[in-house]
Amino acid sequence: MKIGVLTGGGDCPGLNAALRGVVYRAHTHGHRTLGFLDGWKGVRDGLVRPLELAEMAEIVGDGGTILGSSRTNPFRTPEDVTKVEATLRSSGVDALVAIGGDDTLSAALELSRRGGKVVGVPKTMDNDVNGTDWTFGFDSAASVAMEAAERLRDTARSHHRAIVLEVMGRHAGWVALATGLAAGADFTLLPEETYDETRLLDHVRQAVAARGYALLVASEGIELATSKGSTGEGDQFGHELLKERGVGSFLAKRIEEGTGVETRSAQIGHIQRGGPPTLFDRLLSLRLGAYAVDLIQEGRFGQVSVLRGEKVVGVPLEEALKSPKIVTRDWIHLLHTFDA
Ligand code: F6P
Repeated sequence: MKIGVLTGGGDCPGLNAALRGVVYRAHTHGHRTLGFLDGWKGVRDGLVRPLELAEMAEIVGDGGTILGSSRTNPFRTPEDVTKVEATLRSSGVDALVAIGGDDTLSAALELSRRGGKVVGVPKTMDNDVNGTDWTFGFDSAASVAMEAAERLRDTARSHHRAIVLEVMGRHAGWVALATGLAAGADFTLLPEETYDETRLLDHVRQAVAARGYALLVASEGIELATSKGSTGEGDQFGHELLKERGVGSFLAKRIEEGTGVETRSAQIGHIQRGGPPTLFDRLLSLRLGAYAVDLIQEGRFGQVSVLRGEKVVGVPLEEALKSPKIVTRDWIHLLHTFDA
């Protein structure tokens, strides 16, 4: 068999490890692997090249993706559909592995519904794909954010300031939650909760009274009761660039005005998405990538390899795409145990 593979959507640590899992497991089954460049764009525009074992030798710990990525929706127009079908025919791939988040996997589902032999591998630093306990990329990104928060604590303490760290996560607050918990923030703002400014300011006042500074973590996707919101611009899947909303700097201003405490903010943005994957993410990526090929081997098309407890299993793409996985009540309860 010839197995095609692509990495789509926002990159994250672990993509290269997942590719290694795909290529090596394909090799053990006696199959060849072709890589499509820049996500679904490569399938639409016929950008494809062979992937050899030798190329996989040293990439397990490399950030980014050697295949490149994009946020291309390959089924946007009837012309695009024709081009996708032509590439799949001309490249001679028998089956495709789509590695990506909601958008990339929703395109995989569309292809599957059109009769394509495709399986998925979930990835995203946002950790918001349904059907899997964790996505790779999240542990690495949140670890970077945790370290950033700890650095901000040092300088906040020296200057007796409040500092707000804004982290990514789109409309799921997993990165903010993990960062706030792991760095011991005084208050963490999640998109899953209603913005409560009185509570925020109270926590800043209490922290400053107790220790002389305050550390806050905010998810980029929180809804503020203000006109500061949508930029109106979206990508090919209709998502706006939340970074442009600048919730961290907005909150810093409100805190300073409301409490009189000198306040700064930091937005670490794409720094969270680069760098080597953590041990956890490397192992998860390798396992999910390899298992995706097993799904193909067993003819279980339209499925996605996911982590359930200790095990990697296959579930239908529909299940992974049900609705984004947002932070659950038990986690929110734990978070508020520490900012009581
Ligand atoms: O989906 C992953 C993510 O990093 C989000 O957390 C963030 O909102 C978005 O991508 C940023 O997108 P881009 O890389 O297109 O700026």
